[in-house]
Amino acid sequence: MTDDFDLVIRGGTVVTAAEQFRADVGISGGRIAAVGASLAGARVLDAGGLLVLPGGVDTHCHIEQLQADGGADEETWETGSRSALAGGTTSVVSFSTQFKGRAIGPSLAEYRRRAGQAMVDYAFHQIVTDPTDAVLNELPGIIASGVRSLKAFLTYDPLRLDDRQYLRVLAAARRHGALVTVHCENYDAIGWMTEALLAAGLTAPQYHAWSRPPVLEREATHRAIALAELVDQPIQVFHVSCPEAADEIARARLRGVRVWGETCPQYFVLSAADMDRPGFEGAKFMCSPAPRDAAATAGLWEAIRLGTLDVVSSDHSGWSYDGPRGKRVNGADASFRDIPNGVPGLASRLPILWSEGVATGRIGLSDFVRLTATQPARLFGLHPRKGSVMPGADADLVLWDPARRTTLTNALMQHVIDYTPYEGLAVTGWPVATVRRGEVVMQDGRVTAQPGSGQYLPVGPYDMIAPRGVLAHGFDPAAACS
Ligand code: URP
Ligand code: ZN
Ligand code: ZN
Repeated sequence: MTDDFDLVIRGGTVVTAAEQFRADVGISGGRIAAVGASLAGARVLDAGGLLVLPGGVDTHCHIEQLQADGGADEETWETGSRSALAGGTTSVVSFSTQFKGRAIGPSLAEYRRRAGQAMVDYAFHQIVTDPTDAVLNELPGIIASGVRSLKAFLTYDPLRLDDRQYLRVLAAARRHGALVTVHCENYDAIGWMTEALLAAGLTAPQYHAWSRPPVLEREATHRAIALAELVDQPIQVFHVSCPEAADEIARARLRGVRVWGETCPQYFVLSAADMDRPGFEGAKFMCSPAPRDAAATAGLWEAIRLGTLDVVSSDHSGWSYDGPRGKRVNGADASFRDIPNGVPGLASRLPILWSEGVATGRIGLSDFVRLTATQPARLFGLHPRKGSVMPGADADLVLWDPARRTTLTNALMQHVIDYTPYEGLAVTGWPVATVRRGEVVMQDGRVTAQPGSGQYLPVGPYDMIAPRGVLAHGFDPAAACS
C-alpha cells in the first residue's frame, strides 16, 4: 500500500443523509478525496466501531454578537468554536447585527474582524432592525459579499420589525437573492400579557412562559408566512417550539410556499416547569419561544418525522448566569421581563438530538445527519462543500460513538458560559473526534485547533431559495417599491 492520502479515517461506518455503509474515508488537501475500501494514508485515524458523520452545521448560534453599547456576547469566537468542535460541529452561521439608526457596514466589519479568531468555519446572517432606505441600499453589497440570509425579529425591543418593515426586508431579500429567517412571536400581545402579569404580581421566571403562550407563536408564524407569500420570498421560521406553529408551516408547504422550519434541542428536553425551579434558578431555562410541555415535544417529533421541521440548530446564546450581561444583570430578583433570553447549547446539540431522537428510535441515523448537517448546509447555501461525505467536499467529519453514555456537565460544554441548562442530563451518543478540513481538531474532548484557523464561508446565489414566481395578480410589489 502506498500513502495515497494525507489522512485516512479507517474502518468506520459512514452515515450520510441518504445511507449508511462501511468505508474508509481518504483525505487530501483538506478535502475528501475518496470513500472506499482499504485506503492508505500518511496518517490513519481508527474509526473501528464508530460512525463517521459529516461535521455538524449549526445555522443558528449567537457567538460574540455585538451589542448596541459597543460590547458583545460573552461567548467569543474562540470559546464558541471550542465548544462547537467539542460537540462535533465544524461550521456555524452566526449573527451580524444592525443597530437602529445606524448603518450595517461598520458593525459587519467589526463582526468580521472578531470572527477572525474562529476555529470553526463560519458564515453570517445579517439582522436587520431598521430597514430605512439607506439600510436597504446597503443590502445588495452586503449580500454580494456572501451574507446571504437576513434575520427579522417580529418581537423583542429594540430588534423587532412591524409588518411594514418586515415586508421591506422580504422585498429586499427577493430583489437581491437572499433567504429571510424569522423569529415568530407577537410583539404587542407579549407586551400586553407582560403588563398584565406584572400588575398581578406574577414576576418570577416561570411567568416568562405565561407571557408568550403557543397561540402567540402560531399567530406570528402564520403572519410571517402570509407576508412572505405576498412577496413570494422564501423564509425559514426559527426555533419552532410547538406543534401549533409547525402546523402553520405544514399548511403553507402544502400550498407550495417556500417555507422551512427549524427547532432546537431545548424544546425536546426542557419544559415550562424548569422555569419554576426554586429561587432564581428558573432563569437558566428562559429562552424565546419558551419551552412548553410533553405534549408540545411530542408534536415537534411528529413535525420532524413529517419533514415540516427539517433543521435542528442550537440557538446557542452567549450569556452566563452570573456574568456582567448575564441572567442576573438586573439582580437576582428581576422580573421575567428583565432577564436576558436564551440558553447555551453549541456542544450539547448533537448529543441531545442523538439521545432523544436516534437512541429512542424516533428518527434514524440518516435523519440525524440530514437534520444537523446536510439540510442546514443546503438551506444556507453551504452544500455540498459542507454537510456531506463525498469526494470534493471539505473533510469535516465527526467520529461518533453511538452507544457511549455521558452525563452532561458544564465542563464538558467547553463554552465560556458558567452553566448549562442540561446539567446532569444523561445522554447516549457522543463525539469521540472532530476533523475540520482534514485536521484532527478534537480527540476525546481535547480541542487542539488554533484561533484564527476557521475560514469565512461566503455564500453565493443558489437555487433552493429562488422565489416561486407566484404573485397575486401577477404583480411584483418587491420590484415596484421598497
Ligand atoms: O431566547 C432566545 N432564543 N435568545 C436568542 C435570541 C433569539 O431569539 O434567537
Ligand atoms: Zn429568535
Ligand atoms: Zn437565536
